[in-house]
Amino acid sequence: MTTRKGMQTRAELARAKVNLALHVTGVRKDGYHLLESLVVFPQIGDRLAAEPSDKLECVVEGPFANDLEGPPASNLVLKAAKLFAEITGQSDLAVKLTLSKRLPVASGIGGGSSDAATTLRLLEDFTGAYLADDQLHHLALSLGADVPVCLNAEPRIMRGIGGDLSPAPRLPKGGIVLVNPKVGVSTPEVFKALTKKDNPPMSRLPDSFESLETMVAFLKECRNDLQKPATDLCSVIGETISALQSDERVLLTRMSGSGATVFGLCDAEVSMNIERTLRAAHPQWWIASGALS
Ligand code: C5P
Repeated sequence: MTTRKGMQTRAELARAKVNLALHVTGVRKDGYHLLESLVVFPQIGDRLAAEPSDKLECVVEGPFANDLEGPPASNLVLKAAKLFAEITGQSDLAVKLTLSKRLPVASGIGGGSSDAATTLRLLEDFTGAYLADDQLHHLALSLGADVPVCLNAEPRIMRGIGGDLSPAPRLPKGGIVLVNPKVGVSTPEVFKALTKKDNPPMSRLPDSFESLETMVAFLKECRNDLQKPATDLCSVIGETISALQSDERVLLTRMSGSGATVFGLCDAEVSMNIERTLRAAHPQWWIASGALS
């Protein structure tokens, strides 16, 4: 359907953001933590659609729709859309945004951040009002520390509180399996439970990882500093890690973000089989698999 030039129904995948490594290296005076993280965006995510309407509205559907807490106005999609309308001077922006919530909520894979970033991108295309890169970045950062990196959904190194972005090494072909025990974890609580805040940064990253084995060897020297505090708060994370580790096809297992989702890296060809095996043993967990990026 087309109403005005550019205003056609559009839909995009709001990809999950996975922290392959997450080092907490300090803390700012305002309480935000300084991080160094290598992130990737597998082809697994929420779905967001924009279509013409007579007002600005957001509808949430999908398997995890009921887990979104708070009034609709607190939904990051609607917040992002309102800020976009304000900044681009479109007080009459009329669009129906339909979020199909397929990623578990509060799960350390940036679902809300990716939804917000995808909203901004979709609305640029939908309205034809494109923001300058630094304006878009600034707007994204005002919505959350992880939102800027989700704008392009490409492998990146994140530094600062999350908004300082640089290109990541070229990644090898590989597969990833995501496992979430369907228990939400509060990001501020996990950061609060972290006792040592000045941990060493990652080693110098190469320009490219020649093979999956090279990348796994590098990542084995890295950490997620939030894994221990998150597991202390939510012991079932330990169970998901053990389940992945007990499959010998999984080359590296680690928690993403502040949890509770954990990931396993493997050869691209076996990721779906690992997903099936895990699903049979743990039908109550959310499990997804796909290409690494
Ligand atoms: O920015 P965002 O809303 O995603 O962050 C959620 C919470 O996570 C913040 O309120 C803060 O408590 C914590 N956080 C942090 N340091 C960061 C990112 C997030 O302490 N770099």
